[in-house]
Amino acid sequence: MTMEDHNQEAFKLIREVIYQHSGMYFSDDYQKILLKRLEKRLDFHNLSSFYDYYYYLKYNKDSDQELKIVMNLVTIRETYFFREEGQLKALVEEVIPEIFNKKSDPSPIRIWCAGCSSGEEPYSIAILILEQELHQRGFNLEIFANDISQEAIQRAKIGEYMKSSFRTMPVFYREKYFTPKGDKYVIKSEVKSLLNFSCMNLLDRNKLTFLPLFDAIFCRNVIIYFNKESKQEVITQFHKSLKKDGYLFLGHSESLMDFTDLFKLKHFKNALGYEKVG
Ligand SMILES: C[S@@+](CC[C@H](N)C(=O)[O-])C[C@H]1O[C@@H](n2cnc3c(N)ncnc32)[C@H](O)[C@@H]1O
Repeated sequence: MTMEDHNQEAFKLIREVIYQHSGMYFSDDYQKILLKRLEKRLDFHNLSSFYDYYYYLKYNKDSDQELKIVMNLVTIRETYFFREEGQLKALVEEVIPEIFNKKSDPSPIRIWCAGCSSGEEPYSIAILILEQELHQRGFNLEIFANDISQEAIQRAKIGEYMKSSFRTMPVFYREKYFTPKGDKYVIKSEVKSLLNFSCMNLLDRNKLTFLPLFDAIFCRNVIIYFNKESKQEVITQFHKSLKKDGYLFLGHSESLMDFTDLFKLKHFKNALGYEKVG
């Protein structure tokens, strides 16, 4: 067997471990990139091949800890403030007022950002909520944000961002809600206080059972990396986690068309989302 064959076999085994853990499925095209990212773990553990690394990941007593490190290395965490802004505005200008008007109890309106990466998406929602002065108008809101990558959640909690994260956000908001610090910008505490970040895997059924019910879920640009089975599992979970008539927002290139009857397409003024059925 050549080294190339050897790596190809090991890649397939490691890909399966990553898939079983996270739902992310890397196609054959990703072999080079994935192995390159994991190379330093071989050096770290003094292992001589990706096969050995696979056995470490699968059977070592510290494999849970190692998988967490793998999630930091292989996740694609591209994000920025005000990404696909139409949906953010649909939430704040249409969904939240609608839910509030229908509400008969004082429980908070709950929003979940699933796969929030380094926090730009939930912070954008919190900024728009502050802009609308929803809290002052008596809206009781909670935003819960999670990601499988510990590194991403740590960055979100710190809340310091480079200029590139602001590429589609009007300067007005950056000046109002961030404080400059060297070549970075730090989110102000009034925004931070609206958020609750945690490191959580969307396939971790045990942890998911402790979540409250949500009025709206954002899971954008996450299931694009999943295969059909893991997408199905997560979408079914979102259906369970939403209140009656709750809304789900996916990324622009992610669709539920011909995929499930748990949700139906919903047209907002300037955006598309999904409404829970049943
Ligand atoms: C491309 S980012 C999208 C960030 C943000 N939602 C946005 O649209 O800008 C995808 C994120 O999904 C996270 N992710 C992937 N699989 C996950 C899983 N099983 N559980 C939780 N987060 C996951 C990744 O760590 C990554 O940060």
